[in-house]
Amino acid sequence: MREQLKRFIEQMEENSVAIIPAAHEVTRSYDTEFKFRQDSDFWYLTGFPEPDAIAIIDPNNKRSPYTLYVRPRDPLMETWFGRREGVEGAVKNYGADTALSVERFVSDLPKLLNGRDHLYYRFAVDRELDHQILKYLTEQRVRRLKTAYPPHTIIDPTPMIGEMRLHKSPEEVELMQISANIAAEAHILAMKKVRPGMNEGQVEALMEAYMKDRGASGVAYNSIVGGGDNATILHYVENNMPLKDGDLLLIDAGAEYKGYASDITRTFPVNGKFTAAQREVYDVVLDVQKKCIEFTVVGNTHAQRQEYSIELLTEGMKKLGLLKGKTKDLIKKKAYLKYYMHGVGHWLGLDVHDAGRYYVDQQAKHSKPYAPGMVLTVEPGIYVSPDDKAAPAKYRGIGIRIEDDVLVTEDGNRNLTAKVTKEADEIEAIMQKASRK
Ligand code: GLY
Ligand code: MN
Ligand code: MN
Repeated sequence: MREQLKRFIEQMEENSVAIIPAAHEVTRSYDTEFKFRQDSDFWYLTGFPEPDAIAIIDPNNKRSPYTLYVRPRDPLMETWFGRREGVEGAVKNYGADTALSVERFVSDLPKLLNGRDHLYYRFAVDRELDHQILKYLTEQRVRRLKTAYPPHTIIDPTPMIGEMRLHKSPEEVELMQISANIAAEAHILAMKKVRPGMNEGQVEALMEAYMKDRGASGVAYNSIVGGGDNATILHYVENNMPLKDGDLLLIDAGAEYKGYASDITRTFPVNGKFTAAQREVYDVVLDVQKKCIEFTVVGNTHAQRQEYSIELLTEGMKKLGLLKGKTKDLIKKKAYLKYYMHGVGHWLGLDVHDAGRYYVDQQAKHSKPYAPGMVLTVEPGIYVSPDDKAAPAKYRGIGIRIEDDVLVTEDGNRNLTAKVTKEADEIEAIMQKASRK
């Protein structure tokens, strides 16, 4: 049995059963679908890649603690829509103790649930499945059969799986390093290829082509490729404007490799040379980013890191003349929010904003201390709106973010995305060397 499933079972309540559904295909338009992406929790526990499957985890069923309901083989459907593992493949290739056609799931429900005290299931994600489970429970209650013992507690398994996903195994770290390498190389490629006059979309396309060429399934999220003012729009994804000489280009792009995300941002000049003003802001952000990476170690908490980034960036904004006053007062007034309006980073894993709570307690009172095996992004930024009349004119329209992915280790941390430089001089050297070719 897969390691993740074993660990999940170890944490289940006595006499309980879990229903963990796969994702479904989603319509893009009329009769075409978006490219399928498996549900991250389901993928984490089972590694099974197909839509519509349902995993039943029932440790009390000694003969078959892990049952997988899957789409049955169907030559006609497979000719049209692609191969299926079917029940045989689910057992042979994915380690299910039993596999059955998903078509019989509903009629099997009473057999699966009766006699178990607790049901692990996340309501309000999959309407159809919610309905089937509620229908079963309602029927049991209405009938009050002496022989029917439906579960009396329903537990959302998401926090438990989230906590597991937060602590990456060595095997997961290996996959995340591959994802990070692919994305880092794509960013280096962008630095080499960007020229004034190119369109943002062309840069996006060449990076994504590179990622796929290197074995990624695609991007981990919609790439942000923003030239000039567009870099001051945090989630700019139109990526359809020409890149101008003298502007900066902010690229936030990551790969997805075997389900694992990388998440890198680099900001560099379209023409290969920072202006003095661009460099001033860049150096402030870079210095903060490096300090926040150093801070991402065992013992420090997530909230402390955010406060630290705010303190450093507020100081930096003062140095640039964006803010004036006492640092303490500026922080109290949240003056920095005008130029730095997001978090300094997030968990990273199967999801780009990965699963797992940021707090130790449900009331969000105590922030989580970092521990070995956690992977976080470190991504401070400064964004000056082109319309900000209060800012020095030379900084208007400059948006800079620098983002790396960092693994917390026993004795410090490892920057998984160090392969792509963020040193301004080195970026200029790469770009200028490439433009001479
Ligand atoms: N690319 C999304 C983020 O950086 O959080
Ligand atoms: Mn990002
Ligand atoms: Mn990020």
